[in-house]
Amino acid sequence: MRTTPMSGTPISLSVNGTAYTAEAEDRTLLSDLLRHGLGLTGTHVACEQGVCGACTVLVDGEPVRSCLMLARQADGCRVETVEGLAEDGRPAPLQQAMTEEHGLQCGFCTPGVLMGLTYAERAGLSAEEAVTEVLRGHLCRCTGYAGIRAAIERHWQGEGAPA
Ligand code: FES
Ligand code: FES
Repeated sequence: MRTTPMSGTPISLSVNGTAYTAEAEDRTLLSDLLRHGLGLTGTHVACEQGVCGACTVLVDGEPVRSCLMLARQADGCRVETVEGLAEDGRPAPLQQAMTEEHGLQCGFCTPGVLMGLTYAERAGLSAEEAVTEVLRGHLCRCTGYAGIRAAIERHWQGEGAPA
């Protein structure tokens, strides 16, 4: 069990398989708890109004905008962030596909995109469904989406899937 330096009312949650007790004020956002309380800065924040998708994490397996969720709403929940995707210190196959297909440039949108695609893969969506359902909820100012689409197609075809 790990603790965090923020102040407020104690909550307990699991993040990427690690149990935390954290203190959060009523107004503390989940994105702020992750970034400032737990030091998990892979979850990015931009618009802070639910539009860009950069702050997307999984809560009990469901994708959520962590800028729109209060930290205390995650009390007792299982949270997954981009830091939890690597396997044995190596990029996960989906991350590898993004790299190989140039699915990122500045990388600001990438953690949110990866978490949305992780949900889509687990939910059994097809590649085309993943493109439609996930990418419409994530703003990328760099890639024009072509590289991200190529990475999705590559990964869903199994070229980047685990052996
Ligand atoms: S920062 Fe949360 S949706 Fe943009
Ligand atoms: S890679 Fe820069 S915003 Fe998407």
